[in-house]
Amino acid sequence: MRKVITFGTFDVLHIGHIRILQRAKALGDHLTVGISTDALNYAKKQKDAVYSETDRMEIVRSIVGVDDVFLEHSLELKGHYIQQYGADILVMGDDWAGRFDHFKSLCQVVYLPRTDGISTTSTLENIRLRA
Ligand code: CTP
Repeated sequence: MRKVITFGTFDVLHIGHIRILQRAKALGDHLTVGISTDALNYAKKQKDAVYSETDRMEIVRSIVGVDDVFLEHSLELKGHYIQQYGADILVMGDDWAGRFDHFKSLCQVVYLPRTDGISTTSTLENIRLRA
């Protein structure tokens, strides 16, 4: 069985999230998703997620094709998570291209292109403009 792992905040779910999860799953047989904790998300993006880490985890767990979810507490622990969850493939969006190549000693590292024209940030901005 080929196990895939990917990571992200997955706040205010949108089609880009669904597509990367589907494409990640298509690379193997089992998909584990590390969901950024509220604190890690703030450290990465300098803004609070709309949905709590527990809600984001529950939402992503309910997506067809996602087999397992856990909370990612620190970017520094990625190597540990890869080993803990027995991942054969690490999938990241190409906004991170090259930044995880040092994990090639642990597993295959694949960067998938992001879906054009959508992000959580742009969705929230869109909602604000309509309010
Ligand atoms: N992603 C994607 N296509 C998009 C947006 C996100 O493939 N249009 C991927 C990212 O590359 C990442 C995962 O979805 O692998 C989770 O990204 P996340 O940071 O949660 O979503 P964003 O929409 O980029 O969030 P934000 O606008 O807050 O940065």
